[in-house]
Formats: sequence, C-alpha cells, structure tokens
Amino acid sequence: MSTAPDEATTAEHHRHPRPAPHPMPEALPLDLSELIADRQTRIVVCCGAGGVGKTTTSAALALAAAEAGRTVVVLTIDPARRLAQSLGLAELDNEPRRIDVPGAKGELHAMMLDMKRTFDDVVCAHAPPERAEQILANPFYQALSSSFAGTQEYMAMEKLGQLRASEQWDLIVVDTPPSRSALDFLDAPNRMSRFLDGTMIRLLTAPARAGGRAGMRLVGAGFLVFSRIISKILGGQLLRDISSFVSALDTMFGGFRERATATYELLRRPGTWFVVVATPESDALREASYFVDRLSTEGMPLAGLVLNRTHPPASIALSATRAAGAAEEVLEAGGEGAELAAGALRLHAERMSAAAREQRLADRFTSAHPEVPVRTVPAAAGDVHDLEGLRVMADALTGPDADTPTGVPRTRILPARHR
Ligand SMILES: Nc1ncnc2c1ncn2[C@@H]1O[C@H](COP(=O)(O)OP(=O)(O)OP(=O)(O)O)[C@@H](O)[C@H]1O
Ligand SMILES: [Mg+2]
Repeated sequence: MSTAPDEATTAEHHRHPRPAPHPMPEALPLDLSELIADRQTRIVVCCGAGGVGKTTTSAALALAAAEAGRTVVVLTIDPARRLAQSLGLAELDNEPRRIDVPGAKGELHAMMLDMKRTFDDVVCAHAPPERAEQILANPFYQALSSSFAGTQEYMAMEKLGQLRASEQWDLIVVDTPPSRSALDFLDAPNRMSRFLDGTMIRLLTAPARAGGRAGMRLVGAGFLVFSRIISKILGGQLLRDISSFVSALDTMFGGFRERATATYELLRRPGTWFVVVATPESDALREASYFVDRLSTEGMPLAGLVLNRTHPPASIALSATRAAGAAEEVLEAGGEGAELAAGALRLHAERMSAAAREQRLADRFTSAHPEVPVRTVPAAAGDVHDLEGLRVMADALTGPDADTPTGVPRTRILPARHR
C-alpha cells in the first residue's frame, strides 16, 4: 500500500533517503469554533460510518455552540443510554428539552428522535382524522414506521424539516442514524420513497387501486401469475395492507418522493454544513472518503473531517525505533529497575507506532482529499457519557489549534515529517 515511511522510523529513512514522488500534503485546519459561532450557520449535520462518534460529536458541538451564545437544539438518534440519561433524555418524547448548562451564554436543547412518533405525526398532520386512524392501525404502516430500513433516515430528515420550520432555534445540530454506511443518510429516504412510490408497489397494489377485477385486466395475465406468487410469499393480507396504505398515502400528500425531495433540498440551502466523522481506521476513513465525494457531487457543503478517537503519544521526543532500541540496551545493562524501564520504553514504542499508523491513514485521506480540513480529537480515557465528558470533547473540537501537550497541531496526530 503506502510507501511512506513510518513516523517512527523516519531517522533510518533520513540516512537512506528514498525519492519521494509527491510531497505529503498537509491537511488544512478545521475551525469548528468559527463555524458554530457564525450566525449564518443554521444546520450542522454530523455524518459518518457506524460507531465512529457521530452522536457524541453532535452533542459536544451543540454544547460548544450554546456556550458560544447560540440557541441550539441537537437532534440525537439512538444515543448511548448513559449519555441520554445524563442529558435528561431518558424518556422518548420526540420534543426538544432544555438542558441546563451552567454559565452558558446561549441555550442548549436536546431531543432524541422517535421515528414512529415522527411518522405518526406526519400522518396526523396530513390526513383527516378518520383516515389517519385507519393508517395508524394498518399493520403494514406499523411495520414500516418502526422497522423498515431507511425509515429512521427519512424521519430524521422529516424532523429536521420540522425543527427548521419552527424558527425557534438559531442552530440545529443533527446526528445521523447508526447505519453501516454514511451514505445511507442521503440515500435511504429516496430509496424508501422509491419503494413506496415505486413500480413494484404500484403493480402489486394495482388490482386494489383500480378496483378488483377491472384492475386485473389492466395488468395482464403474466403479472397475475407473478402477483399470485408474491401473494403466496408475502401473504395476501400483507398485500392488502400495503395496498390500502399506499392508496391512503396517495390521497394524503402526493407521494413520499416529493416529500423526501423537499427535505433533501433543506440540506442544500446556504447555512447548512456537513461534518464528516471518522476514526483513524481504514474502513471508517473509506466511508468518509465516499461521503466527501458524494457531498461534492450533490453540491452540499462540507465543513471538514473530524478524526475522532486518535491516540497521540504523551511525548514525541523519542521515536519508536529509538525507544525499542533503548529498551534492549537497558535490559542488557541490567540492574535495579531495568525491567520496569524497559517496559515503559516498549510501551512508548508501541504508542508511537500506533500513532504513526493513525497518521498514515489520515495522510492517505488528505492525499486523496487535500481540500478537506481536518480536526483530530483524542480518545478520552473512558466513554463520553456526561456533560463533563462532552465539555472535554467540545474543547478538543473547538479549542485553539496548537494547545496540545506536545504542541502538535490538532490537524495531526504526530508532527509533520519534513519541517
Ligand atoms: N473521543 C472519544 N473518546 C472516548 N470515547 C468516545 C469518543 N467519541 C466517542 N466515544 C464513545 O464511543 C462510543 C460510540 O460513540 P457514538 O455513540 O457517538 O458513535 P456513533 O457514531 O453515534 O455510533 P452509531 O453509529 O451507533 O450511532 C460511545 O460509547 C462514546 O462514548
Ligand atoms: Mg449515534
């Protein structure tokens, strides 16, 4: 893969220099403090692969924004239980609640998305009461609204639209669902609306829509056989459920696709920024790469990459190679405390190698996307599950660029090789 030498073994490579085909591009600094303080910023969406820290980053950014004087609401999705509890979000009520942040100039509100409730609200808002009741009781609707892949993404956008329309907050920070792929947030609503508005469902439900036998004549014998097979697989009742649900929807609001498109447009408006979160691992960074490309295709503005849970060493004075060498020497010399000292040196060597690995992955990302600003956030000792933990993370996200213990700028994990 990469032919770049380890940070840790730079010393050797200096002695036997290899021609470097391209100088390694330096990542631009990501100034999240300016982004959230800017009154023009109205929506910040945190995206990324599963488990990288989207929810935590969203909450920490919202906290920083409230402290900077914004009236902010953070829409979290499936937050870890302890984080939810400490934010007072233990109950799902699908509405924002104010969180007391002592000393904050602004206001922090937080909510946890309840996708079924959000879906129900959409139905109630658009259908006459009697029809709404029918839809809510429909088994297909119940399955769709609580478990269909893509519903969560769709409803997150729906809720975002509602929050934005209420004009109650001057900044909305949006967490995205725990999908495997970051792209799901952008793709799932369309996929779902294509499914609901799609040919398949229209054909399957055609007989019911066109009214029994007359409808069947429209679709032809081949389809009837197909329909019967599908009926057998899915069950006739389910087909009837889908059919009545879809025709109810039709009368409700000219299709899901239009609705998905409208909310999608919100993400393109000026004032919306995407923050891509990744951990320094190849899978997460690959996802981040796809997502960055996709945003640029869609003309959606990217603020930058948050590289979360990095492991910067406590000291950069000693390279991995020298630390490992020193460990050997100490052991050879023997004497009191030699084992302990060698252990500490080896541990440092491991840390330096791990940091070098993380930096190499970050460099690879920056080589592919030199225009994307980066901010690294070190892994905390434990989980981030309370306001205090969020504040530490908020500082790492928005604090000055070079105030780290080793002076390494927060665009990086280790210092740049050629200074
Ligand atoms: N910088 C950090 N240091 C230590 N722990 C962290 C850090 N960032 C996140 N975590 C922890 O990692 C776990 C996953 O974080 P989080 O829930 O924010 O990820 P996510 O991307 O929202 O996950 P999902 O895709 O499941 O929604 C949590 O337990 C969180 O406390
Ligand atoms: Mg999450």
